[in-house]
Amino acid sequence: MIGTGYVGLVSGVCFSDFGHTVVCVDNDQRKIDMLERGEVPIYEPGLEALMTKNVGAGRLAFTRDLATAIDGAEAVFIAVGTPTRRGDGHADLTYVMAAAEEVARMAKGYVVIVTKSTVPVGTNRKVRDVVAATNPDLDFDVASNPEFLREGAAIDDFMKPDRVVLGVETDRAAAVMSDIYRPLYLRDFPVVSTSLESAEMIKYAANAFLATKITFINEIAALCEKVGADVKQVSKGMGMDNRIGNKFLHAGPGYGGSCFPKDTKALARIGQEHGSPMRITETVIAVNEDVKRRMIEKLQDLCSGSFKGKTIAVLGVTFKPNTDDMRDAPSLTIVPALVGGGARVRVCDPQGRTEGENLLPAVEWHNDPYAAAQDADLLVLLTEWNEFRALDLTRLADLMASPVMADLRNIYDRETALAAGFKQHAGVGR
Ligand SMILES: NC(=O)c1ccc[n+]([C@@H]2O[C@H](COP(=O)([O-])OP(=O)(O)OC[C@H]3O[C@@H](n4cnc5c(N)ncnc54)[C@H](O)[C@@H]3O)[C@@H](O)[C@H]2O)c1
Repeated sequence: MIGTGYVGLVSGVCFSDFGHTVVCVDNDQRKIDMLERGEVPIYEPGLEALMTKNVGAGRLAFTRDLATAIDGAEAVFIAVGTPTRRGDGHADLTYVMAAAEEVARMAKGYVVIVTKSTVPVGTNRKVRDVVAATNPDLDFDVASNPEFLREGAAIDDFMKPDRVVLGVETDRAAAVMSDIYRPLYLRDFPVVSTSLESAEMIKYAANAFLATKITFINEIAALCEKVGADVKQVSKGMGMDNRIGNKFLHAGPGYGGSCFPKDTKALARIGQEHGSPMRITETVIAVNEDVKRRMIEKLQDLCSGSFKGKTIAVLGVTFKPNTDDMRDAPSLTIVPALVGGGARVRVCDPQGRTEGENLLPAVEWHNDPYAAAQDADLLVLLTEWNEFRALDLTRLADLMASPVMADLRNIYDRETALAAGFKQHAGVGR
C-alpha cells in the first residue's frame, strides 16, 4: 500500500484485518516513525485498535522502503494524494505517476498495480504506459479501484461498503482483485466490475452528485430564508421520497473537505478538456463559494454590521465531525474573514488543533466550549461534533457578553435557544 494517509492507512489496516499480509509504505519518515511506534498519524475512530491488532498478528508492517515492501507482492495499491493542481483545477497526478514509476523500477514478478487514488479518466492507461516504458520486461496489469470511504466512519465504510468498484482489463488481474476482496464477496457486499475508464468515472460522478445534492439544499435554504420556510422541514419532506433519500440534504455552511472541492474542480476540468462541459458541476462549485460568502454576511449581520472589536467563539473547524482533516474546510474561509474584520476569535475543536494551528493563525485555541464562549459577543457553531450537540445553553448565554448564536448546522431550535437566554439565534434556511 503506497501512501499511509486517510485512504492508504485505512485500506492497509482493513486488508490486513481480512487476513492478507500488508506492508504500508510512505515517503514521509515522520509518519512511518509514528506508525512503527504504534501511533496513528491521523484521527480516525477505531483505527488505532485495529492497527495494533493486525501488527500484533504479524500481518501488517510499515516502511519507507518500497523495494522491500513490494518483494513478493501480488498487488500494489497506489493511495497517494491527488490534490488540485495550481492554476487550472486539474487533479495533480505527480504523486501517482511518481509512485507508478517507482513500482515499475522495483517490481520483479507479476504484479497488479491498483490505483486507489481518485484520478481523472485515462489515468490508469497512463500508469500502464509509464510502467511499461520504465520497465519493459515487467509482467503486470493495472486495475482501478476507487475508494468511497468517509473520514470519521472509514473503517465501517471499508468493511461494509455499499459497493466495491473494480476496473480491470484481464482475467488474471480480476482473479487477484477478487481474491483480495473475497471476504466482502462472502458477506454479499456488491462488487461492480467495469472497464478502467468507467471505474475512474464512477468516483468523480458519485462525488460530484453528492456535492450537487448538498449545494442544492444550501441554495433552497437561502430561498427559505427569504420566503419564510424552514429548510429542516423542507429537507425532511423531500428526503422521505425514496427517489430522493434523506442523506446529504442538511443545509450548512457549504461543502469542504479533502474530496468534494478538488473532485468537482477536476471533473469540470475533464469536461472542458473533452469538449463536454460539466455545467451543473461548474455551477455547484460557484454556488458553494457563494454559500460560504453568505455565511460571512450572516455573521456580520449578527455583529451589527462589523466584526471590529467583537469577540467571537467558533465551535468546530474541521470540515466535518470525527476527523482532524482541515483540507478545504469552510472554517478556512469563514474564520479568516472574522479575523480580517477585526474580531478576536476563539476556536474550540475536539481534534482540529494540530492541523488548524498553522492554517488559522491569530486565533486563540480552547479545549472547552464554555471557556471559548466566555464574554463573547457571538457564538458560531460551525462543525457538528457530538460534543456541541447538547451544550448547556443557559450556561453559555449567562457567560457571554452578548448571547447571540449563529447555528450554521441547525443543531438547536430557535425557541430553545431563546428560552435559554440567547437574545438571537440564527440558523441556516430557517
Ligand atoms: N480522504 C478521503 O476521505 C478520501 C476518500 C476517497 C478517496 N480519496 C482519494 O484517495 C487519495 C488519497 O487521499 P488521502 O486523503 O488518503 O491523502 P493523504 O494526503 O492523507 O495521504 C497521501 C499519502 O501519500 C504519501 N505519498 C505521496 N507520494 C508517495 C510516494 N511516492 N511514496 C510513498 N508515499 C507517498 C504522502 O506522504 C501521504 O502520507 C486521493 O486521491 C483522494 O482523492 C480520499
